[in-house]
Amino acid sequence: MMHILVTGCAGFIGYHLSKRLVSEGYTVIGIDNLNDYYDASLKRDRLVQLLHENFFFHKVSLEDEKGLKDIFERYRPKIVINLAAQAGVRYSLENPRAYIDSNIVGFSNLLEECKRTNVEHLLYASTSSVYGANTNMPFSTHHSVDHPVSLYGATKKANELLAHAYSHLHGLPVTGLRFFTVYGPWGRPDMAYFLFTKAILEGKPIKVFNYGKMKRDFTYIDDIVEGIVRLIHRKPAPDPKWHGNQPDPAASYAPYKLYNIGNHHPVDLMEFIEGIEEKLGMKAKKEFLPLQQGDVPETFADIKDLMEDTGFYPRTSIKEGVGYFINWYKDYYKVQ
Ligand SMILES: NC(=O)c1ccc[n+]([C@@H]2O[C@H](COP(=O)([O-])OP(=O)(O)OC[C@H]3O[C@@H](n4cnc5c(N)ncnc54)[C@H](O)[C@@H]3O)[C@@H](O)[C@H]2O)c1
Repeated sequence: MMHILVTGCAGFIGYHLSKRLVSEGYTVIGIDNLNDYYDASLKRDRLVQLLHENFFFHKVSLEDEKGLKDIFERYRPKIVINLAAQAGVRYSLENPRAYIDSNIVGFSNLLEECKRTNVEHLLYASTSSVYGANTNMPFSTHHSVDHPVSLYGATKKANELLAHAYSHLHGLPVTGLRFFTVYGPWGRPDMAYFLFTKAILEGKPIKVFNYGKMKRDFTYIDDIVEGIVRLIHRKPAPDPKWHGNQPDPAASYAPYKLYNIGNHHPVDLMEFIEGIEEKLGMKAKKEFLPLQQGDVPETFADIKDLMEDTGFYPRTSIKEGVGYFINWYKDYYKVQ
């Protein structure tokens, strides 16, 4: 079976994807720098779950050119899936440098290695945050996204642009995946659903931004993983219908493609909170606050291309997904 390099393998999505790939018989080379953006012990615990004879972990940063080169030399992966990044909209106001380092410098190093070693397909995480100030719903990869409202969104859009340049210059097949608010077991402690669950269980107030008037296309982790897995062997081909007079942002004359992977069913934030309350059997103390800088009031994914090209669409209901998350949370943190 083929070697697949997964970057950010100790992260939330990278962990779930690596586990799935190993279970399907792939050999997975996982790299991660195990940074402390959030509790690194959660990352290490995910790695423990990944222990398997077909999983090889190396602690490497994308910014470390030599370390990255050694990995490519040693394993010569043909498929690379980049999930390592500095994530989070709000933190990009506090620590912009982390986003430039991981998402711009790190991603550029990865592109260079993919080019140098003739990788057959690079898939990389982008985000719904690239839609920034767009309000034309649902958000489509065929719309232009030139008005980011956070540095995080801007660096992810930059990834898409850098990937296109490598696709054009070197024929590197690249697929960009715009994920929409991913949640589930082994999730990220900085995300709202995780913070809400923790605060409710501890009897502390939860912060509800934009006075609760938010909608999110919450997407369950297994649906994200399924979407990625279905695209691994769908290397993008140049689109003969693409024309520079009316450039379609989702495709190209080069082997380049963008997909949204989202639930395509936005849910009111208040409804999502009710789902958590119901599952916990506890009421949240709510502190209503204005919209945070860098945030957007609504996200909604158009997933027509994903459905047409893979036959798959996310289908886990919020009730089911929240249930799985809270079961995991109580078990992991030993909550009675
Ligand atoms: N979770 C979501 O809701 C969501 C939504 C949209 C896009 N994304 C994107 O999906 C990808 C995975 O997100 P996640 O939720 O699993 O985040 P995560 O923070 O849990 O995982 C990222 C992992 O990458 C590692 N990492 C970060 N910078 C690195 C670097 N420079 N070199 C090596 N390792 C590095 C981190 O230690 C972490 O383990 C990211 O690119 C993120 O921007 C996530």
